Amino acid sequence: MNAKIAGVGMYLPEKVLTNFDLEKMVDTSDEWITKRTGIKERHIAREDEFASDMAVIAAKEAIEDAGLSAEDIDLILVSSVSSEMITPTIACLVQKQIGATKAAAIDMNSACTGFVSAMIIAQQFIKSGTYQNILVIGTDTMTKYTDWEDRASCVLFGDGAGAAVVTPCPDGDGILAFDMGADGTKSDVLSIPHLKFSEEDLARRGGEKKRTFWMDGSEVFKFAVRVMCEAMNCALDKAGMTVSDLDLIVPHQANIRIVDGAVKRLGIDPEKVFVNIQKTGNMSSACVPLALCEAIREGKAKQGDTIGLVGFGGGLTWASLIMKI
Ligand code: UT7
Repeated sequence: MNAKIAGVGMYLPEKVLTNFDLEKMVDTSDEWITKRTGIKERHIAREDEFASDMAVIAAKEAIEDAGLSAEDIDLILVSSVSSEMITPTIACLVQKQIGATKAAAIDMNSACTGFVSAMIIAQQFIKSGTYQNILVIGTDTMTKYTDWEDRASCVLFGDGAGAAVVTPCPDGDGILAFDMGADGTKSDVLSIPHLKFSEEDLARRGGEKKRTFWMDGSEVFKFAVRVMCEAMNCALDKAGMTVSDLDLIVPHQANIRIVDGAVKRLGIDPEKVFVNIQKTGNMSSACVPLALCEAIREGKAKQGDTIGLVGFGGGLTWASLIMKI
């Protein structure tokens, strides 16, 4: 058996912050942000709205879309880097809020890669026959970690959540192949500390900048273009396919130039790559599931299509999968 998508859901907070709003906050311009990132606007969670709240809304939509009820869910897997609590997990908070009384509940964190990794883990539980109905969620409130005085990073991020319910299907359908990996030697090129480090600790970790969100943008950029192609090609190889067999790729939405670079290297028609970064910004774990949900709702990913998902981010980490939907 493989895991197949039975339903999808998403949530974007109501408040929208445009590039023109950012022009009033830091020394930037709509022109720079659009040209360098492809982002025009992003959604911002309310002060009293957290990663678990957004996850609950996306989860309810996905369960309804799958024609299931919360009691049918066996496992909730949540990917996030911005849980409002260290414990309990977002997965437990979702379990309580939706009434998924029979579900096991686990959070995981592999940054922007996390939703694709969680789908791969869901596939293992379904393949082994352990669970039938798995709720997979990516949710992040990146703007709660944003340094609004740092123009290099504050223009990049937004908040949101996406969810999918996966259920068993015969071999040859659903998730056909995947690739997953990490390079911990590059752990210092993108970081968000949990703790308030002492001055000595900060010095050891590379200085004052690493007090909040910190990224070596150009290092991550080069890694992202390379790994997006390598991970996609590796999963395609394992599926016995080439890029021409794909109807659509849904990539992590970090920067339109990363997507453009990968499109060229992969040799895929740009029309076959789903992009919604212009209205969401980078929502870390939420990017891939939310883009997947929109692609399905807009009819860009249709039943019977073969699609690729690919995520990359902090860690550094990456994951890709090929699936029939
Ligand atoms: O999701 C996790 C993975 N994250 C990513 O994949 C992000 C990967 N990195 C990137 O997307 C890009 O590296 C950034 C968008 C972060 C930066 O783009 P860049 O083309 O690499 O710009 P840069 O950092 O090289 O900066 C170019 C110039 C600099 O000015 P000087 O030194 O050339 O005078 C910056 O100070 O642009 C300046 N700059 C800005 N100007 C206006 C940086 N941020 C801004 C800004 N507005 N917001």
